[in-house]
Amino acid sequence: MDHAATREEALARIAAAQDLGTLEALRVEFLGKQGSISGLLKTLGAMSPEERQVAGPQIHSLRESVTEALATRKSGLETAALDAQLASEVIDLTLPAPETPRGTIHPVSQVMDELAEIFADMGFSVATGPEIEDDWHNFTALNIPESHPARAMHDTFYFPDKDAEGRAMLLRTHTSPVQIRAMLAQGAPIRIIAPGRVYRSDSDATHTPMFHQVEGLVIDRNITLGHLKWTLETFLKAFFEREDIVLRLRPSYFPFTEPSVEVDVGFALVNGKRVLGGSGDEPGHGWMELLGSGMVNRKVIAAGGLDPDEWQGFAFGVGVDRLAMLKYGMDDLRAFFDGDVRWLAHYGFSPLDVPTLSAGVGARA
Ligand code: PHE
Repeated sequence: MDHAATREEALARIAAAQDLGTLEALRVEFLGKQGSISGLLKTLGAMSPEERQVAGPQIHSLRESVTEALATRKSGLETAALDAQLASEVIDLTLPAPETPRGTIHPVSQVMDELAEIFADMGFSVATGPEIEDDWHNFTALNIPESHPARAMHDTFYFPDKDAEGRAMLLRTHTSPVQIRAMLAQGAPIRIIAPGRVYRSDSDATHTPMFHQVEGLVIDRNITLGHLKWTLETFLKAFFEREDIVLRLRPSYFPFTEPSVEVDVGFALVNGKRVLGGSGDEPGHGWMELLGSGMVNRKVIAAGGLDPDEWQGFAFGVGVDRLAMLKYGMDDLRAFFDGDVRWLAHYGFSPLDVPTLSAGVGARA
């Protein structure tokens, strides 16, 4: 018996199969348990040895070529399917990547990072205190007793209830209560800055009910006004990245410092804009009030649990928003807190840049 016709027909049908499903059906038809070629193999058993010697190799060869044809067609169909998929799912690597929305660092955060870095170089660490304060830390311990007119000067937000110790609770009006907390927590000596939010009931183009200050406190032996002046000068030169920053110290008054000095910085008027640098006494120049400071009052050192005969120090407080406006040239404080993403995109800083003193305008996102 010759199986040439069967072979030819099987191979033709396999070659013509257009998908894997059809091909599988053919495999079952020829080689499955009930398949035609399987059927032929079964006939071998009933044959005489002579017949089997002739038919055996023919049937086995038929099965082999069908098996091989199935495998060849299968890989052909699989390759074609993959090619079709690749052709339809084309990736154009020359297309611009979709833009991921990226936030920016708020100028206030940027400036606080810069301050931390500058003062770290001078050996200061960063301290914090609560924004919800009691009136002892915010006023009394800072030598502002209950009837003191300075309490009225700060337009304080009070909470309706007192704390467990009977102290009135409020939103801190300045970062100075961190002075007390630092002395009580760390003892002396101390070198800290304390940046953070403060609150006063006040609102116009240069005042917002919430704003930012950074407090500085140094407590040690034999600290003088000279240390204060050097520290502020070094800080302001580094912060504004100018060597020609000139300070003017004016006698002032704060209950928690004695003596107290208001620090002004010289500026030049350039095309109607104030540019820091140089003495404010030159023609066309002026002095700008920048911060309050002084030698820590003995009563404050005592309230911090330290002996004022052994320890002295200086403190200063400066508006962070003000510093940011001066350095990066914004003129409306209220825009800082509007959360307008266009403003943030323009004035914010790239989050991918490590804050450095030279971050500057060039590093804007
Ligand atoms: N706390 C003062 C203010 O808010 C600033 C200041 C701090 C002054 C430290 C002197 C010493 O105006």
